[in-house]
Amino acid sequence: MTSTHPWWYDAVVYQVYVRSFADGMPVPGDGIGDLPGITARLPHLRDLGVDALWITPFYRSPQKDHGYDVADYEDVDPLFGDLADFDTLLATAHELGLRVIVDLVPNHTSDQHVWFQAALAAGPGSPERARYLFREGKGADGSEPPNNWSSIFGGPAWTRVPDGQWYLHLFDSSQPDLDWRNPEVGDMFEGVLRFWLDRGVDGFRVDVAHGLYKEASLRDQVLPKETKKAKGRKKSQPESMVERTLRDEPMWEQPEVHDVYRRWRKVLEEYPGDRMAVAEAWTQTAESMAEFIRPDELHQAFNFGWLGTPWSAADFAEVITSSIAAVATAEAAPTWVLSNHDVVRHPTRYGGGPAGIARGRAATLAMLALPGSAYLYQGEELGLEQVDVPPEARQDPSWFRTGQPGRDGCRVPLPWSGSAPPYGFGGADGTQPWIPQPDDWAGLTVEAQQADPDSTLAFYRRALAVRRAVFKGVPDATTAVAEDEVLVIRRGDVTVVVNTGDRPAGLPDGEVLISSGPLPGGVLPPDTAAWLR
Ligand code: NOJ
Repeated sequence: MTSTHPWWYDAVVYQVYVRSFADGMPVPGDGIGDLPGITARLPHLRDLGVDALWITPFYRSPQKDHGYDVADYEDVDPLFGDLADFDTLLATAHELGLRVIVDLVPNHTSDQHVWFQAALAAGPGSPERARYLFREGKGADGSEPPNNWSSIFGGPAWTRVPDGQWYLHLFDSSQPDLDWRNPEVGDMFEGVLRFWLDRGVDGFRVDVAHGLYKEASLRDQVLPKETKKAKGRKKSQPESMVERTLRDEPMWEQPEVHDVYRRWRKVLEEYPGDRMAVAEAWTQTAESMAEFIRPDELHQAFNFGWLGTPWSAADFAEVITSSIAAVATAEAAPTWVLSNHDVVRHPTRYGGGPAGIARGRAATLAMLALPGSAYLYQGEELGLEQVDVPPEARQDPSWFRTGQPGRDGCRVPLPWSGSAPPYGFGGADGTQPWIPQPDDWAGLTVEAQQADPDSTLAFYRRALAVRRAVFKGVPDATTAVAEDEVLVIRRGDVTVVVNTGDRPAGLPDGEVLISSGPLPGGVLPPDTAAWLR
């Protein structure tokens, strides 16, 4: 928080999952969140005390992967509003002192994108097909996929088209991968960057930043023996639907991808106001994550190692120490993230129920003391837990491809007010949200929690205000150790303690600046964190 750093260096960024934040149009609402809904609720983010919001994709899209299947990168989907609504959102955010980061999806387009439609129409060998990864199949009649790669969402990563060729899709079959070895692709995305920079956005979150380039031969992947975990997987590496292990990966982390980010960095630097980009890169190691944030590449990368760490002082200490060390080699600052729209919400990961909520608050307090930038996911400030969405209401493409529950449970629309669904989410005529909300969320609405000083919302507001006041100008140097089951973090003259054990622990000397829960009798109860000076 020193004034010499650009705004993003230590920013707290709030992730808005556009479908599930607030439904503002058409009045009285269709049960799907949208841009006018976000604009109307921006005061919530100002009052929370965040510096910026990152908005998930709102571009024209058939919504097969809820916007991560883009049909037109330079327009707003009518479901979410129009470009004028975006301009209003951006201007209102800036008036409130909030920066705006938008999502960029460069690994794949939607199958409805004009390029893919043209590729289908033009046929094998055409320049239109050369923008994607079309190949002949294997076997005498070409009826087997060109290689053995699997889709992240389950099933083969190849789909055959009527003329017999196959196209690659590392995600859903509606999300064909682009061929970044074709210069037209890089030129197109430079245009997209400039389109949103010219409109005034402050930055980009880069989807699947470790993808884009595939090994040119598109050879088979050498698969580890069945489901055996590969050697070298750290405990801190995340358990997620996109979990990967140290193994042969000709589809990820190819060296050529870094040239893309060098080009983008130059574009970003042409614009005033410290425009930035943050990588969503599920890399194999913290060290290879740091390659994405070398001084001439992207500014930040999500630290998924922190997100994947279990509730353990020793594991927290290890991941904090290794994350800080890894980014130091890149001359960058770390980021910290506990939840997002792709993973189980962190109170649920930590066991759920009152203990899970208490642990979630404690982990958040630890995170907010660390150097660098923190990313919050909508609803964590309300203590929302993962919802068990009934099968008939599930919409995640991975559910349809694998039969696994998928990610809908962390995407349930936010409760704002009232005592029954839709809890003020929108739809004044009683229209229900696109995923049903639980019946027992009345106590979790923003309205209910802002009246209660002990609520999770009140805690988040306090924590963000105290972070601003306490760490302003404090150098980054930080240590983290586990003393038995207590995590002890030291930064400047502040000591942070987190009790991950099941017995009360002693509190260090000093004035308590904030705690994640009550400190009865001057001790640190289990599942509780405190900052002291
Ligand atoms: C990562 C995004 O966070 C996820 O939601 C999406 O499904 C995939 N990338 C594919 O774009």
